[in-house]
Amino acid sequence: MRKSLLFGLSVLLIGGIVYVNSRNDAEQDAARLLDKLEPSGGWENDPPLDPNRTQNHSPPGDFIVDLEPGGTWFVGKRGAESELLLPYRPVQIPSPSNDLEPVNENPGFLGADACQSCHQDRHASFVHTAHHRTSAAASRTSIAGSFQPGQNVLKTNSQGLWFKMLERDQRLFQQVSFYGWKCDVPFDVVTGSSKLGQTYLYWHDDGLFQMNVSYITGTDDWVNSPGYPDGQAIYNRPVTNRCLECHTTWADVRRPPNHYTPESLILGISCERCHGPGRDHVRHHQSNPDEKTPRFITQPTSLSRQQQLDICGQCHFGNPKLKGAPYQFRPGDDLMDHYHPPQADLPGGVHSSNQLVRLSKSPCFNETEMTCTTCHNPHQSERGDRELFSQRCLKCHQPSDCGMESTLGPQLSDNCIDCHMPAGATENMFMNTAQGKVFPSLRDHHIRVDKDLTAAYLQSIGK
Ligand code: HEC
Ligand code: HEC
Ligand code: HEC
Ligand code: HEC
Ligand code: HEC
Ligand code: HEC
Ligand code: HEC
Repeated sequence: MRKSLLFGLSVLLIGGIVYVNSRNDAEQDAARLLDKLEPSGGWENDPPLDPNRTQNHSPPGDFIVDLEPGGTWFVGKRGAESELLLPYRPVQIPSPSNDLEPVNENPGFLGADACQSCHQDRHASFVHTAHHRTSAAASRTSIAGSFQPGQNVLKTNSQGLWFKMLERDQRLFQQVSFYGWKCDVPFDVVTGSSKLGQTYLYWHDDGLFQMNVSYITGTDDWVNSPGYPDGQAIYNRPVTNRCLECHTTWADVRRPPNHYTPESLILGISCERCHGPGRDHVRHHQSNPDEKTPRFITQPTSLSRQQQLDICGQCHFGNPKLKGAPYQFRPGDDLMDHYHPPQADLPGGVHSSNQLVRLSKSPCFNETEMTCTTCHNPHQSERGDRELFSQRCLKCHQPSDCGMESTLGPQLSDNCIDCHMPAGATENMFMNTAQGKVFPSLRDHHIRVDKDLTAAYLQSIGK
């Protein structure tokens, strides 16, 4: 059942791509590969097999390497608990296709560094924000997880399968050890500023794929990527253009679902996703250094309230599906011209807590002209500063508006949000680990009175 589900998914997602191998070639290929793939003779620091677990270690000789319809390479035993799925032949190390002719012209996105020379202060604070840091080239600095021996292994519930993060020849890899077979998959792109965690991507030609092993900040540990079953090694999940649209500034999409011109990617979310592509603005002001009137750039406060909300809604509105191509939204546009409405009123699409919809349930939002920037300064990282956020509540409220003032006194103003905008785990985002499910916590933007949370918060501060 599980097997057919996975299989159905890979056909659905990768459908439409023509593969050169005919079935017969594939069988011959697989036979040749079986010859080449050697069971590893054991290597340094292998995690010891856990004697408390059932021995389901099977001899490598029973395994098959097979090209499935849809283009996925399967390594494993049919019907067995564990399998390794790859979009490329397991003996290769994939790499990006460089020097490809672009398919789409870049509409003028430059990246945040192009704004530095004239907007130094804003740029200097902006580089520390989650937006700027949400995607980067993979390196020891940008990857938050550890490569130190002893901390660089993810074990699974499947006795013969584990992952090891390692550096070799100045490249970083997730090494899959599958019943003694080894297979190296390179880290290429990091997604996530590591507030909750990070997920990693790699190139195979012009295809971008998600890696099986992610990082979770809460426990400072390697984990299976969200939605990945524990005990599988899945490296064939395509990174769709909607995923990149929320986590990068721009990418040249060659063809769906996951083909891009590798050199075109502008990593990090730059100023321009909120202000519009900057090329003409930069050219104009470089050629006219005395001109103080800004040209060819959008100041969001000149737009209507709904238009300002729609800018943030590109990425903070659950996970609505695109109506057309990605990266088409420009500040001032109507969100609904580019996206279908979110399917359900859940506090989380794929993994976002859908701040736009949740906030719109609050009287603070409905009885005022509030926008996202009433509380958030988009040019600065203010993460975790509860007192600062509470000051933003006090733009409109008095401490005496709150029924808890008599209980808490001046302490009330340190933290309005843990009682009124609770942080909590959402059912829609979890990782399967050998120890069970892990839920990172997200903040609910429905501002409200909640007696249970109040009681929990009071207990946590000893009142
Ligand atoms: C060559 C200098 C220069 C560069 C580079 C530059 N700007 Fe500007 N920008 C200006 C000037 C001059 C103004 C008008 C005076 C001011 O607001 O500082 C301005 C104003 C702005 C404004 C305010 C618009 C308004 O209507 O109030 C925004 C937003 C802006 N720039 C964004 C950007 C972004 C984004 C980038 C990078 C893609 C960028 N700028 C790069 C010179 C530059
Ligand atoms: C192009 C997509 C995109 C747009 C547009 C966008 N965001 Fe975000 N935002 C993200 C992503 C992705 C993250 C998570 C980044 C991370 O932690 O890796 C994020 C994170 C944040 C955070 C959390 C910051 C932190 O450090 O905890 C805030 C607050 C936020 N966004 C507010 C806004 C506001 C306000 C707007 C509109 C003015 C906006 N965003 C527009 C994609 C976007
Ligand atoms: C997440 C969206 C977002 C990002 C990213 C962003 N801005 Fe802004 N920016 C805004 C909004 C919204 C405003 C309107 C003023 C406000 O509410 O802070 C603004 C205002 C401005 C202004 C005008 C300020 C004024 O006082 O008139 C400038 C200049 C500017 N931004 C430049 C930049 C530059 C340069 C970057 C990147 C280094 C950047 N912004 C990144 C959303 C963003
Ligand atoms: C609709 C926009 C959207 C899409 C699509 C999307 N994300 Fe996100 N992602 C966000 C936002 C917004 C956050 C911040 C958490 C929140 O607000 O719920 C986030 C958070 C994350 C984080 C945690 C960041 C941190 O610093 O803790 C990772 C990792 C991540 N996304 C990876 C991905 C990957 C990989 C994909 C595609 C397979 C993807 N996202 C698709 C918007 C999106
Ligand atoms: C732009 C002004 C504004 C801001 C900022 C604002 N509120 Fe409100 N809030 C209102 C208004 C107006 C109401 C409805 C009238 C009332 O109850 O005072 C309201 C209502 C409330 C309520 C009653 C909710 C209910 O269901 O009856 C709570 C609780 C609340 N706000 C808390 C907060 C907190 C906490 C913050 C900061 C995170 C905040 N507000 C920020 C304007 C604001
Ligand atoms: C310990 C939890 C807690 C903290 C901290 C807290 N509140 Fe409250 N708040 C409550 C509870 C519970 C109520 C309902 C009280 C009642 O009905 O007697 C309430 C009521 C309110 C109301 C009125 C809601 C209505 O029905 O009209 C507002 C507005 C409000 N709080 C704002 C704030 C602001 C602003 C802060 C920070 C300065 C804050 N609260 C801090 C728990 C808290
Ligand atoms: C009334 C104040 C207020 C408004 C308005 C508001 N936020 Fe927030 N937001 C907060 C607070 C408080 C936090 C928690 C910040 C922290 O702990 O770092 C937060 C956190 C976030 C985060 C981090 C996600 C997480 O779960 O930790 C994102 C993303 C975000 N806001 C986006 C938005 C967007 C988009 C809008 C507009 C639709 C918006 N916010 C409007 C107060 C607000």
